[in-house]
Amino acid sequence: MPWLDWLSLFVRWFHVVAGVAWIGASFYFIWLDNNLRTPPKWKQDKGIKGDLWAIHGGGFYEVAKYAYGPEEMPQTLHWFKWEAYTTWLSGFALLIIVYYFGASAYLIDPSINAMSPSTAILLGLALIFGGLTLYELACRSPLAKYPLAFGIGLIALICIAAYLSTHWFSGRGAYIHVGALIGTIMAGNVFFNIMPNQRKMVAAVAEKQDIDPRWGASAKLRSVHNNYFTLPLLFIMISNHYPMTYQHSQSWLVLIAIMAAAAWIRHFFNLRHVGITKPSILVSGAAAMLAITFWVSMPQLAANSPITGAHDVSSSLNSDSDTHQENDIRVTKEQVTSIVSTHCVSCHSRTPTDDIFKVAPVGVVLDTWDDIERFAPQIVRRASVTKDMPFLNKTGMTDQERQLLADWFAAKDK
Ligand code: HEC
Repeated sequence: MPWLDWLSLFVRWFHVVAGVAWIGASFYFIWLDNNLRTPPKWKQDKGIKGDLWAIHGGGFYEVAKYAYGPEEMPQTLHWFKWEAYTTWLSGFALLIIVYYFGASAYLIDPSINAMSPSTAILLGLALIFGGLTLYELACRSPLAKYPLAFGIGLIALICIAAYLSTHWFSGRGAYIHVGALIGTIMAGNVFFNIMPNQRKMVAAVAEKQDIDPRWGASAKLRSVHNNYFTLPLLFIMISNHYPMTYQHSQSWLVLIAIMAAAAWIRHFFNLRHVGITKPSILVSGAAAMLAITFWVSMPQLAANSPITGAHDVSSSLNSDSDTHQENDIRVTKEQVTSIVSTHCVSCHSRTPTDDIFKVAPVGVVLDTWDDIERFAPQIVRRASVTKDMPFLNKTGMTDQERQLLADWFAAKDK
């Protein structure tokens, strides 16, 4: 369906722009809040509790934050809500276009859980809106008075969502559903709490009544959550380019580990904004990311080292496996061409014959020997290392064929 690809392009583009505006504005306001300084007396007398000067784009700016509210309602008041709403709406549209219309291609992996598209879509929606409901109920319960306990509960909720979705959906479908849950909670915080409380504040100013400090306090807890969610969510948004994460046999643990390290790194910046610099957080966060990298990549590297790799194949191909040497395997050009034509060219072609993919995915075409040579590292990476090609193993590639490609590549430029 080519028009669906175009729709996906425009909606994704819009989603990225809206997301940049939302996260950008929220980073800016966090920065503002943390850089406000005690104003001169005449400003304090007007109820201003912090002020700040900045220069940007060739002009000076003066910002003032009121302890409660201004005496008079200003003529124009900017709200900053559509950034959040449009990000959520476009993200949800994108989820439907890519993962629900394309459920059998992107959401369902029969080797994980063979279900019908409608079951998968219902489970996906249940995960997102069930999770949101639990969160909103907890925010209205006594638990909201204990931020630490609440935080632990919230982490548990995200871990359960990660576990369930990776056991229901394809790797990337699972990650994006955890992301959709987090994004929905974040936009919900704006919609269900921050906006209603701000409306009360505006009404109080207009009617010259006092502002109840509790309005701001309940928004505070939720904005702390949004703050720590930002980096994990941005990782999930780009994760579909990195199959080594979502294709891992314990992809739910990989996801949780990366999100935890990202939130920890966010903590460094939160502390730094209030004048506390703790390099140990940044260093341990980076070390954690490195440890995840090794944990995920080491088994793959070991399994595909030329020595063990050659051994496996040679013992299955040569009967005299006792006497072979590691580099006496010669995988022929014909063998490679035949494997690629059988298993890849239905999609990766200038004229694909696949029922779903009518244009070569990501521009990878493998019709000729020149194409194969040009894409050799990518072919081997996806077919023999991460083993997530052929897509959902639609063309039934065997482990032996994957190994042959790896051996061909290892011997290639010797
Ligand atoms: C059923 C269709 C289909 C088949 C068959 C298929 N692929 Fe893919 N391929 C895709 C899709 C869809 C993508 C884009 C999504 C992704 O990257 O996961 C892709 C992406 C890729 C990429 C990523 C390019 C990049 O730069 O990100 C490589 C490399 C690749 N395929 C190689 C192969 C190889 C090698 C085979 C055969 C062993 C193969 N594919 C078989 C559908 C297919």
